[in-house]
Amino acid sequence: MNLYRRTFSVLVPFWKQLSVASLSAALHALLSGLLIWMVGPLLNTLFQVNSPLSPTIIPGQGSPQPLQQLNTGFDSIKESMKGWIDQLAAGSSRQDTLINFCILILAVVLLKNLFLYLQGFYMAYVQQAVVRHFRNTLFDKYLRLSLDYFQSRRTGHVMSRVTNDVVVLNESIDLGFNRLITDSLFTIMLFGFLLILSWKLTLLAMIVLPVIFGFIWFIGRKLRKYSERSQERMADVTSVLEESVNNARIVKAFSMETFERSKFFKATQNYFKALLRMTRIRHLASPINDTLATVAGVIILLFAGSQIVAGSGELSAADFMTYILAMFSLIKPVKDLSQIHIKLQEGMAAAERVFEVIDTPEKIIERPNAATLDSFTSVIRYESVSFSYNPGEPVLQDISFEVRRGEIVAVVGPSGAGKSTLFDLLPRFYDPLLGRVTIDGHDLRDLSLASLRGLLGIVTQETILFNDSIQNNIAYGMNGVAPEKVIDAARAANAHDFITQFEHGYQTQVGNRGVMLSGGQRQRIAIARALLKDPQILIFDEATSSLDTESEMLVQQAIDRLMANRTTLVIAHRLSTIKNADRILVLENGRIVEGGTHEQLLANGRTYSRLYEMQFRGDA
Ligand SMILES: Nc1ncnc2c1ncn2[C@@H]1O[C@H](COP(=O)(O)OP(=O)(O)O)[C@@H](O)[C@H]1O
Ligand SMILES: [Mg+2]
Repeated sequence: MNLYRRTFSVLVPFWKQLSVASLSAALHALLSGLLIWMVGPLLNTLFQVNSPLSPTIIPGQGSPQPLQQLNTGFDSIKESMKGWIDQLAAGSSRQDTLINFCILILAVVLLKNLFLYLQGFYMAYVQQAVVRHFRNTLFDKYLRLSLDYFQSRRTGHVMSRVTNDVVVLNESIDLGFNRLITDSLFTIMLFGFLLILSWKLTLLAMIVLPVIFGFIWFIGRKLRKYSERSQERMADVTSVLEESVNNARIVKAFSMETFERSKFFKATQNYFKALLRMTRIRHLASPINDTLATVAGVIILLFAGSQIVAGSGELSAADFMTYILAMFSLIKPVKDLSQIHIKLQEGMAAAERVFEVIDTPEKIIERPNAATLDSFTSVIRYESVSFSYNPGEPVLQDISFEVRRGEIVAVVGPSGAGKSTLFDLLPRFYDPLLGRVTIDGHDLRDLSLASLRGLLGIVTQETILFNDSIQNNIAYGMNGVAPEKVIDAARAANAHDFITQFEHGYQTQVGNRGVMLSGGQRQRIAIARALLKDPQILIFDEATSSLDTESEMLVQQAIDRLMANRTTLVIAHRLSTIKNADRILVLENGRIVEGGTHEQLLANGRTYSRLYEMQFRGDA
């Protein structure tokens, strides 16, 4: 129930549109009811039944006093409602009355459809606004969730929340609101007609209703479960698709088309099966409801008809027609009401998944009144820092070191030692489990994220570019920066020459994730980006390790320019970087096992000298 309240609370800001839509829905239902009610008086006019037959209540048949009062009560309502219509349509002759009826019918239908339009339009407005709201909320949430959220989930699933689930949720809001109003109002009204016309027959009909509603409830529960599963399967399909498309190069290089194909086919097959399971139930709902409702109708027809045939006259001919018409008109809204319940269940399953994302605790939160740090003046300290991604699997253990302003500190160590993780703590991609990291004595957790990250420039091995122009990729995050500055940065990054060789120069589109550029070109664009940002602290994570010697030289030159007059933390691959470092830390299994300058560490003859032998000898 809480889930419903939460979902529908999104509608509050749209109360105006919703009011118009709901009012229109209500009026539409009322006018539809009016049309049905007009049938009786119209028939009376056509067949000139002058005074409506008074129901024959045969005295002495044993109706107890209260029931008789009920009869008379309903009868007087019936007569006054019919009288009202008669008055409205009454003309000086039967012909005139007929014309009046025709005009009345036209007017009612016209109005009814006008309200149908208003209801449809305003509901669609609200619906789309709600979709937008949830999409934006989810996206905003994704931006605030820390990196490990995305690393531990498949991209397709993450995307599916924003694309699929929101739509399913939205459909249920439409139905829950729009049709719920129209259909329940229409149902109540028709039911009222039935009661007024003959409460005895209607009581009979009521015996069947609990069966129908029990069935509806049962189906709804089943469908919610199946819908949840099929949505998950859909997310699987998106995931496989996403991965294959993004890794098209690898797939081809390894001739894994068959493997990927079977993976995808399996995902679509599973979705198909899940959907089929759901479809089986969903499409069973309508026929069964329809049949049940018709059975109810036929029972009524049999009883009422028998009475008429036997001449006991519970109903006049016109009343009987209205009764049957109302009875059968009742089938559709009741059927629709069952669909509403089902759709609501599906929608709530989607809502649950959406809210699960929205409720995911944010690990990296800015403190209220977080301090802003405009510049880095003295020292970065890691103080007894420990960290793990998963409980019980420590990645960093009791790490302490410091980096003074203007220094170059290099970290070396075997892959998987925790080097990248160590540097990911500085921009607060993660927070330490124990200990703390400080800049100029401020715990990172006390600083505003924007000011902290504003101090940092990060260049990693894997350069991520956006599908945009080179110009915009270099100027990413720097709104309205002058084009000359972009060119200056590109020059310093040794990127200007290759950029101007492109036909469209700085306006060249780099393609999806920058696939139109070589590794070295991408890297130099990333360096230009960092140069343009002009950060005080630089982080290099194996920035040159994937490059060939020639581009490595160009990139290294660019890096040297970038490093000038800054504080640098580098996960080193190149010997030259290491030799120039003020301090080298050797990381092994998440612990610092050695520290010092190149010469000191070589002289020690321990891990570093071994690594040096293995890794860097060839470079020297
Ligand atoms: N997002 C993550 N979730 C779980 N474990 C991770 C994650 N990222 C890295 N690890 C693990 O943490 C350890 C250190 O990784 P990393 O810092 O990338 O090492 P390095 O950069 O030294 O190669 C490795 O064992 C790696 O498997
Ligand atoms: Mg790494």
